[in-house]
Amino acid sequence: MDFSLETASLDTLSCDCLILGVYQDQQLSASAKTLNESTQELLKKIMARGDISGKNGEAVLINAVPSSTIARILLVGLGENQPLTAKNFRKALLAAITCLKKTAISTLACTMADCVVSDVDSAWKTRQIIEVFSDTVYQFTTCKSNKETDFNITHLIITSAENELTLSKKGLHQGKAIAEGINLTKHLADLPGNICTPSFLAEQALALGKTYAKLDVSILEETDMEKLGMGAFLSVSRGSRQPAKLITLNYQGGEKNSKPIVLIGKGLTFDAGGISLKHASGMDEMKYDMCGGASVLGTLLAAAQMQLPLNIIGLIPSSENMPDGDANKPGDILVSMAGKTIEVLNTDAEGRLLLCDTLTYAERFNPDVVIDLATLTGACLVALGRVPSGLLGNNDELCDSLIAASITSNDSLWRLPLWDEYQEQLKSNFADLANVGGKDAGTITAACFLSHFAENFHWAHLDIAGTAWRTGNNKGATGRPVPLLSQYLINRAYG
Ligand code: BES
Ligand code: MN
Ligand code: ZN
Repeated sequence: MDFSLETASLDTLSCDCLILGVYQDQQLSASAKTLNESTQELLKKIMARGDISGKNGEAVLINAVPSSTIARILLVGLGENQPLTAKNFRKALLAAITCLKKTAISTLACTMADCVVSDVDSAWKTRQIIEVFSDTVYQFTTCKSNKETDFNITHLIITSAENELTLSKKGLHQGKAIAEGINLTKHLADLPGNICTPSFLAEQALALGKTYAKLDVSILEETDMEKLGMGAFLSVSRGSRQPAKLITLNYQGGEKNSKPIVLIGKGLTFDAGGISLKHASGMDEMKYDMCGGASVLGTLLAAAQMQLPLNIIGLIPSSENMPDGDANKPGDILVSMAGKTIEVLNTDAEGRLLLCDTLTYAERFNPDVVIDLATLTGACLVALGRVPSGLLGNNDELCDSLIAASITSNDSLWRLPLWDEYQEQLKSNFADLANVGGKDAGTITAACFLSHFAENFHWAHLDIAGTAWRTGNNKGATGRPVPLLSQYLINRAYG
C-alpha cells in the first residue's frame, strides 16, 4: 500500500472510496459537511434513515454516490461531538478499515485527520491513520499457495487542510517508516521456525544494512562468542543444530561521539524448552520467541528510514532452545561473560542466558541507555494479560520516558517493581545465581536476574510475552513494541 497527502477540495477528489466521520445526533464532521453540500444533502438523507447513529466504532458503506467522481462513501461513527480521545480515534479508524474487508476498493481516501482529538496534532493523526490501516490490511501469505488477501487497497490518500500540511507531511513520513518497520517485524515473527532460523535472521539484518547507508550490520559466530567467553549464551545453542548468531546493527545517524541508545532483542527462533521440555499444546507459538529480535530489526528500519539524528545499536542474540544430548541439563553450572556463575535449574529459562551475555557485551558500546525487549516470561501474561508490556528497570528517568512514549504511541507499558527483596529468590547453593526464582513473581525475578548484568548503565527491560503476538483464531504477530520504541527514539531525537 502506498500513501499520499491531498489538500484539494473534496468535490474534486476521485477515488474508489472516501472515508468521512459523523458524530452522534446526525452531526457531520467538517469534511462530511463539504461532501453533503456537493451531493444534494445525500449524507443527511442517509443518516435520517437511521442506519448510522454516529456512535463510535460504527461504519456504514454507501455503495453508490450519484454524479460524483467518488465511487463510494464510508461513514464512520465518531461518538459525541466533542474532542475524541486518542483511543476512540483509533477505534473509529479500526472500524472504518475493517468495514472495507473483502471489497474491491483499490484507491482509498481518508478525511479523518479533520477530527478534533485531545492533546495531539495533525502529524499524530496522519501517522495513526497509516499505522492502523497498514496494520489491519497486513496478511501473512508467504507460505500459502493462494496469495489473495482480504483487502485490495493499493493506495491511501490522506486529506489535509492546507495550513496543516507541514505537520501532515511529518506524520506521513513517520507513519510510513513506522508502518514498514512493524510490517517487517510481523513478517519475520510469523515465519515458521524451520525458515526463520538464527542464520536467516542474520541474513535479513545484513540485507537491511545494504539498504540503508548509515546502517552497518555485522554478525558474531559461535567461535567469536567462545573467544568472548559467552558461556551462558552458548550453552543454550549447544542443544541445537542451528548455529547461534549475535547480530549487531549499528546505525550512525548522530554526532560521531554521541553515546548510542542500545536496543537488545531476544531472538529465540524456536523455544522447545530444552531438557525442561514444554507441553505440546501451543508449542508452535514458541516460533514467536524471536519477537524481541524482530522488533529491534523493525525499529532500526524505521529509525533509518526517518533518518533520526541518533546513534543506535541493535543487538540480537539468536538461537534455538532444543532438547538434545548436548543440551543444558538442570543443575548444570555455566560461566557467563561477566564471570558470574549460573546454576541452570530450568533449561526453559533460556532467554535470560542469552540476554545476560549480550548485556555484558553492550558495555563496549559505552551506551547512553540500554533497553532490552524479550518474550521472557509466561508469568507476564498472568500478571498483565495481553494489554501492556511489562516494564522494569534500574533508572526512573528512562522508565518514565518509555512510559510517556507508550502513551503517545498507544503501545502500552506497565512498570513492575525491581526491589532488592526479590533478589533472595535467585540464591543458589552452588553458583552465584540461579537462573529461575521459583513460581512467585516470575517476571520480576527474571528482570532481577538480568539486573546483575546491567549494573554499569541505565537499563530498562520490556517483557513482551503478552503483547508481541495474538493467540487463538487471530493468531499472528502484532509488531509491538515497534510503535513504542519508534516514539521513544523520535522523542529522544527531537523532544
Ligand atoms: N519464551 C518463554 C516465555 C513465554 C512463555 C513467552 C509463554 C510467551 C508465552 C521463556 O523462555 C520461558 O520458557 N520462560 C519460562 C520461565 C520459567 C521456566 C521460570 C516460563 O515463563 O515458563
Ligand atoms: Mn523458555
Ligand atoms: Zn523463551
